[in-house]
Amino acid sequence: MANPQVTAVRGIELNVRDLAASVAFYTNIWGLSEISRDGGSVYMRATGDEHHSLGLHQAASSDLRSFNLAAPDKASVDALHAAALGFGTKVLDAPHQLDAASGGGYGFSLTTPDGVSLTISSDVARHAERLDDKTKPNKFSHIVLRTQDPDRMDAFFMDLLGFRLSDKNGHIDFLRCSPDHHSVAIAHAPGPGLHHMAFELPDLDGLMGACGRAKMAGYPIEWGIGRHAGPGENVFSMFVEPNGFAAEYTTEMFQCDEATYPKRSIEYWKSVPIQPCSWGLATQRSEMLHKARSGTLTKDLNESGTNLGPRAAAN
Ligand SMILES: [Fe+2]
Repeated sequence: MANPQVTAVRGIELNVRDLAASVAFYTNIWGLSEISRDGGSVYMRATGDEHHSLGLHQAASSDLRSFNLAAPDKASVDALHAAALGFGTKVLDAPHQLDAASGGGYGFSLTTPDGVSLTISSDVARHAERLDDKTKPNKFSHIVLRTQDPDRMDAFFMDLLGFRLSDKNGHIDFLRCSPDHHSVAIAHAPGPGLHHMAFELPDLDGLMGACGRAKMAGYPIEWGIGRHAGPGENVFSMFVEPNGFAAEYTTEMFQCDEATYPKRSIEYWKSVPIQPCSWGLATQRSEMLHKARSGTLTKDLNESGTNLGPRAAAN
């Protein structure tokens, strides 16, 4: 098979110290729904048809466990596995039938060049019914990974997995595997680790409702609500969840036409001053968000054995 490619980011898997508290947050506040449970693992769906957008796994320390990418069929999974073996990256297993609790399907796991695990799968169970609530996420949108070697990470995603470069701004490299402007982004920051994860709301009204629910529950908006003036042009609102991870609600991600994108040069984006919000609303990022995106907040919480509970809104 020529040029096998992944076609979507399915979701993220997180190790968490307090499984019950994490499930409660993602159910009651973030708007996901538990779909299956297997021992110390809980799988949560968004309102779309993907089996799960978030897996939570009981562990001694909270950390990014892995993330999941979709391939179109078993032949593509096999071809990507063969390509990974030849690429020289660490391949963790051979394609096999995956656990039913996590949606089954056919897939294999490997690591990025700096050691973050990911699974590539096809034929995963999908939900026949979509849930009708636009204030809840409809799908996982994007994962942003910190790395000290962005060129090597870009090559892994583009040369091996078929991602295309959407934009670079000197701080983040934005990669797409579907019309969404970015599904994976590479942050030039000390790593490896999770910079932030984003869940998509179906529209702006739904995003505002979701933000209101989180804020009223004691989880303030750490940056936003804004619209990126830079790559992606999506609406964003950043929170910090109980394990110290940075979690984003997003909507209206720019949709790329493969025939005409990129519409701007890398030099253009590098020449534009960092202007975080085209509306002029979202200016300062909170200190807590800085700590979350750098990984130091989760590390501190692991060391103290505490969670980040509800707190008073700052605005
Ligand atoms: Fe984002």
